[in-house]
Amino acid sequence: MKKIAVLTSGGDAPGMNAAVRAVVRKAIYEGLEVAGVYNGYQGLIDGKIELLQLGSVGDIIQRGGTMLRSARCPEFTTVEGREKALKQLKLHGIEGVVVIGGDGSFRGAMELSKLGIPCACVPATIDNDINGTDFTIGFDTALNTVIDAIDKIRDTATSHERTFIIEVMGRNAGDLALWAGLAGGAETILIPEETYDLPDILERLRRGTHRGKKHSIIIVAEGVMSASLLAEKLNVEEGIDTRVSVLGHIQRGGSPSARDRVIASQFGARAVEALKNGGKTVAIGMKNHQVAEYDLARVFDGDSEFEKEMYTLSKELSI
Ligand code: ADP
Ligand code: F6P
Repeated sequence: MKKIAVLTSGGDAPGMNAAVRAVVRKAIYEGLEVAGVYNGYQGLIDGKIELLQLGSVGDIIQRGGTMLRSARCPEFTTVEGREKALKQLKLHGIEGVVVIGGDGSFRGAMELSKLGIPCACVPATIDNDINGTDFTIGFDTALNTVIDAIDKIRDTATSHERTFIIEVMGRNAGDLALWAGLAGGAETILIPEETYDLPDILERLRRGTHRGKKHSIIIVAEGVMSASLLAEKLNVEEGIDTRVSVLGHIQRGGSPSARDRVIASQFGARAVEALKNGGKTVAIGMKNHQVAEYDLARVFDGDSEFEKEMYTLSKELSI
């Protein structure tokens, strides 16, 4: 393999830039040419592709977002769209692609590999919802952003003796809500992987008030319901007055944490090695603190690798 490309796709995540930097620097170190594709799969279709040099990725390791920009691209889900992308790859002499993104982007990579282009997939999403890896790039930074918000909300919640409901991103996964709830000392955490029970939420609120608590924090993952709907339920059914805070896209921005920069560097470099050595389509990830590559199909089969013990612990500690 002499020339590879790198793209970022789907919802952006802090640390994507660090991963792009690692791919470019490692590829050049290994004697490969490396091209950047702008705007994810859309850029592949439109031929927005340019050769990158060592200096192209200078001064980005600390920046949020992605210098290659990102996109959701419906056209790439069609056979015609992917044929256009293949044509561009051939035109530019690109033999393998590093895809940095979430599970949707990985599905795109799977389809691309069926056309004879090997892909190395680097997991980057704040949702931490990719099977086969314990962590995705961006999760740690987003988690710290959420905790910072919880701590601030707790201040005002205490002053006013209020109950707050904080809505956290994560699409259909509860990792961000669960980790943030545990680290932020929330009384109640609602995640899509577990059924919720309104009487249990109320009982927890009552117990808290009974032992003199001045505030309550409820974390709800967006995959369960909106914070405003939960607020309405608590109000209509029990007359409980709450305040709602939807954290939204601030969870996707900001300078990546040290941890995200490190795993992004490790994953990016490993992706280049995988393409150079095997030319096979693989996913890169971290299992038991070891960077590993594994069959991309594993991402899509089986149930999500949800950590039930952590949920149980969060309940035990918030009695
Ligand atoms: P993420 O990668 O963050 O999960 P998306 O689910 O939006 O984000 O996926 C990113 C892009 O990957 C989509 O816009 C589309 O271009 C491509 N993609 C997703 N699913 C498929 C699929 N089944 N086949 C081909 N391409 C896909
Ligand atoms: O996948 C990352 C994510 O931020 C999810 O947590 C969220 O549901 C979604 O993307 C939001 O997407 P958009 O930025 O397209 O509104």
